[in-house]
Amino acid sequence: MRILGIETSCDETGVALYDGRHGLLGHALYSQARLHAEYGGVVPELASRDHVRRLLPLTRGLLEQSGCPLEQLTAVAYTEGPGLAGALLVGAATAHGLASALGIPALGVHHLEAHLLSPLLSRPAPAFPFVALLVSGGHTQLMRVAGVGEYELLGETLDDAAGEAFDKTAKLLGLGYPGGPALARLAASGTPGRFSLPRPMIASGNLDFSFSGLKTAVLTAVKGRALGEAARADLAAEIQAAIVEVLAAKAFAALAHAGLGQLVVAGGVGANLALRARLAAGAPRCGARVFYPELEFCTDNGAMIAFAAALRLESRATNHESRSGAFTVRPRWNLETVAAQA
Ligand code: KG4
Ligand code: ZN
Repeated sequence: MRILGIETSCDETGVALYDGRHGLLGHALYSQARLHAEYGGVVPELASRDHVRRLLPLTRGLLEQSGCPLEQLTAVAYTEGPGLAGALLVGAATAHGLASALGIPALGVHHLEAHLLSPLLSRPAPAFPFVALLVSGGHTQLMRVAGVGEYELLGETLDDAAGEAFDKTAKLLGLGYPGGPALARLAASGTPGRFSLPRPMIASGNLDFSFSGLKTAVLTAVKGRALGEAARADLAAEIQAAIVEVLAAKAFAALAHAGLGQLVVAGGVGANLALRARLAAGAPRCGARVFYPELEFCTDNGAMIAFAAALRLESRATNHESRSGAFTVRPRWNLETVAAQA
């Protein structure tokens, strides 16, 4: 089994090669962050066009560097959804074109499934069952994961995602796009507690989240005030603390609820070091272990797509295998329905 994985759901063009026997052979990523920075967020049409420009050269370079001729591929996996429709179409069309020319299957992969399985690429890897905290720019969910394709939603955000909360509050602080890493950098020189922000739904008694109130509270804190550099850093630190505290509290509550001792954290916000420190500090008290993907695979990448397809092939639970050339993308796609479609 040798799978080419293609990720184009948002503003990252990612490709990777996963081999059933030798593991990950190589991966390459092109980030469009600079392209979108001047607009303060991802512009869908620009994203699609840039994927068109980058995807084939990136793939060619990866195959060359890995010493893998096209003929050695046994499948091409791509992100089928959720994501930006036009961006998804570029990856899907490329994957189906390549697969059809090579006479091999094209496999559609759920982007969030790929995120939540990505820690299994690391050593030590978690074992099923575990609780997954999925924290990206578009999603914030707690899942009970019993196996490949066995996902039970325990809780999710009712409005903004955690990454979105980072991005939107960063914008209010005048930080560039993407806001999460920029806010985290500023927070490193600040002190939480000097500003006072809510910890939304921390005591709600369920496993759901809400981050839109936080954005409003930050807007109130900055409105009509010229904050100095130290105050901006303190506010950034308080924003980060608020998001991190809620995520950690709910993640530990989910472990207790599910009666499990392994927490997997996946998605872009999983790269946040304050979140990692908080989870590491709280884990021993719950007798829990926390697992992450490699830092480079926290944000969108092709490796997690190739790997998720490989796990599905191994467990014979492939969802969208197609040799016919017909395909769809799913800009909105609920992860819990993936298993049913296996
Ligand atoms: O998983 P991802 O790359 O793309 C989506 O599928 O959304 O996640 C991107 C999100 C963005 O909101 C970004 O600001 C956030 O992850 N992010 C971070 C950090 N690195 C990325 N948020 C906080 N701290 C970070 N270090
Ligand atoms: Zn993602």
